[in-house]
Amino acid sequence: MSKIKTAFFCKNCGAQSPKWIGKCPSCLSWNTYEEEVIHKDNENKSLDKLADKKNIKPTLIDEISPRNETRIDSKNNEVNRVLGGGIVPGSLILIGGEPGIGKSTLMLQMALELSHLKVLYITGEESDQQIKMRAERINLSHSKCYVLTETITQYIFKHIETLNPDIVIVDSIQTLTTNVLDSSAGSISQIRECAAELNRFAKQTDTPVFLIGHITKDGTIAGPKILEHMVDTVLQFEGDRNYIYRILRSTKNRFGSTSELGIFEMLNSGLREVSNPSEILISQFDEPLSGIAISATIEGMRPILIETQALVGSAAYGTPQRSATGFDLRRLNMLLAVLEKRCGFKLGIKDVFLNITGGIKVDDPAIDLGVVVAVLSSSEDIPIASKTCFAAEVGLSGEIRAINRIEQRITEAEKLGFKTIFVSKYNFQKSDGKNYKIKVIPVGKIEEVFTALFR
Ligand code: TYD
Ligand code: MG
Repeated sequence: MSKIKTAFFCKNCGAQSPKWIGKCPSCLSWNTYEEEVIHKDNENKSLDKLADKKNIKPTLIDEISPRNETRIDSKNNEVNRVLGGGIVPGSLILIGGEPGIGKSTLMLQMALELSHLKVLYITGEESDQQIKMRAERINLSHSKCYVLTETITQYIFKHIETLNPDIVIVDSIQTLTTNVLDSSAGSISQIRECAAELNRFAKQTDTPVFLIGHITKDGTIAGPKILEHMVDTVLQFEGDRNYIYRILRSTKNRFGSTSELGIFEMLNSGLREVSNPSEILISQFDEPLSGIAISATIEGMRPILIETQALVGSAAYGTPQRSATGFDLRRLNMLLAVLEKRCGFKLGIKDVFLNITGGIKVDDPAIDLGVVVAVLSSSEDIPIASKTCFAAEVGLSGEIRAINRIEQRITEAEKLGFKTIFVSKYNFQKSDGKNYKIKVIPVGKIEEVFTALFR
């Protein structure tokens, strides 16, 4: 008589244990073990795999012929950029994001844009009518894009065999189940096994596979971390649902850098690539307003000019309030303390609100000077001269520190028609000798910036 075999898996890291334990020995988190049914002939599989691979021998690294990497153009510049120059054949790509952020839209739009390839869009979440409705909204048509509503991997592979697609998209990995296991869809063992099957398929046939994955409340891709280990690339699609901007960034990429960033705008007719983010992140005003400063930051490899808005007012209720959107609050408090101590501004009794426009988050230290200047401008109620921007870090003693890739930032500001940029004098010593059309003002201390702007 066959007996159902179960094991316990850590929700966090996917480690396995024959009995329940309170603390995971592998990732040290507490209370993460859950019971899962595992199929009894599971163990034999690894032996089978070994048998399959008997003809594989160790090879000298010098004798392995390098594959000339031909990447598939995804027809979407932002996706290409984030993937490191296009889709690598045979790669398994995971796209994570909160519900409703636009993962399905992004993938369907990419599928429909790949009009020269045969695309298979597998959905376990929506009906084919729903997909069709979305496609109509995006308003793209494609003669070789197939939609399959199926969740059992064995059937999916049968369809794939007859269809022979060039690209496979799975929406979402949490809905898939494999016959090999008895546990329910979305459980750790199912996610892991389905991803492993798809990975094997991708590697054997050189077909790229995109997996959509849900994100849990605490921001991790639902399912064990092991999913992130198995795939070649992990992309995060993020953004504030109240804003129209969406950011695609890679947190792991075996075929490119992880510092790249793709920016999209969610419109009524799908996602639009934003190729020049600076233009949309800087608001246009007829007259200069106080409390606004523009900083030259770098996101990934791209310089971007973003706007910081500050509002400084008297604290109405004893305790002053500090709030920051898109910027680290502790860093804001630190900058305010520097202003108070080194420059004698009595900001301790003021409310300070800070906002990075466009709903994006910045952690580039080069934005410090822009933040400080926006606060000062609001506090003094004097607008900053138009076409002026900033790129420097502020140190604890009020010194203006050097930052990386200053030339790139200056060039971007110049390109966008800025007339003046404040940088650290320590930066400027190095980049000296270059001739910019933009006026580069090297400064060493906050006081110098203050005098130059407001006196
Ligand atoms: P969706 O791709 O279904 O999100 P996910 O798969 O990540 O859960 O789309 C989410 C939102 O995008 C939805 O609330 C509607 C909006 N949307 C648009 O604004 N314009 C469009 O063209 C489409 C297709 C969706
Ligand atoms: Mg979806």
